[in-house]
Amino acid sequence: MTASAVPQDLDQTGPNGDHHIARVDAVHHGELAGAAQLAEIGWALHANGFHGGIAQPINLLQIMSAEGLDRRAEALLRLKFLVDVTLELFAPADTTPAAGSERLAPGAVLLRAFAAPQAVALLQDLQEVTARSPLRCMTTRGGHRMSVAMSNCGTTGWVSDSTGYRYDAIDPLTAACWPAMPARFRELAAAAAEAAGFRGFLPDACLISRYEPGARLSLHQDKDESDLDSPIVSISLGLPAVFLFGGHHRAERPRRLPLAHGDVVVWGGPSRLRFHGVSPLGDGEHPLLGRCRVNLSLRKAR
Ligand code: SIN
Ligand code: FE2
Repeated sequence: MTASAVPQDLDQTGPNGDHHIARVDAVHHGELAGAAQLAEIGWALHANGFHGGIAQPINLLQIMSAEGLDRRAEALLRLKFLVDVTLELFAPADTTPAAGSERLAPGAVLLRAFAAPQAVALLQDLQEVTARSPLRCMTTRGGHRMSVAMSNCGTTGWVSDSTGYRYDAIDPLTAACWPAMPARFRELAAAAAEAAGFRGFLPDACLISRYEPGARLSLHQDKDESDLDSPIVSISLGLPAVFLFGGHHRAERPRRLPLAHGDVVVWGGPSRLRFHGVSPLGDGEHPLLGRCRVNLSLRKAR
């Protein structure tokens, strides 16, 4: 990966309103930062509890900005972002799917860290999507407000309101089409599906779910899609969660699977209609997303 893949802006604490934007104006490989900037970086690394190990890749980067690193608070945000991004860029090769793949059931596979190398770019795409169709807590047919905030991208999106669940080409919040699905979402989902044994997956819908601490998703089946031959590809980002992977009856006790940032679960074929859900999210702070978990659930709905 080259430094040009580094995004210009990144939400440091998740798309929940009270966040800071860390701005990196330009980052180039192969040049050392100026002495004053390095001193600032060294100080800030120390102040943030980073001791050794990270300084070397940081030294490969030069931070250039119109106003320079003169404002300490901004420098700290910038630095935290750089450390996070650098860790991603220099992530060890053992985050490839083969390292931690696990067959859960016929047609169901957990691909550990499959999305991790692309997480920063996925989150940047996601920011563009949710700027147009914001995350919101939907209500169920019974009038219950869901604890998970949701949005969609693609040619159709999953919605719930007092009339029930459905797929709709129009976002009821904006009265416009859902944002287009970023190519990166589609390509990553197709690659994950293929790694799980489903070739030619072409999702047309991506349900985006944001969990804050305490948010949960009760056991359910994904059965509102008219195409049940295609699998579900579910990408986890941010805080870890316990995924409940059940059977074909609600009463069947689900497996409790810890899911980490970058993990992808694929279920299709004989597992396509398995019940699944998410336990109440534990509190924590994720370096890229802050106090939240984001799930991207890609489907072929039509
Ligand atoms: C879903 O079932 O739509 C989301 C599952 C998850 O958040 O892992
Ligand atoms: Fe689901």
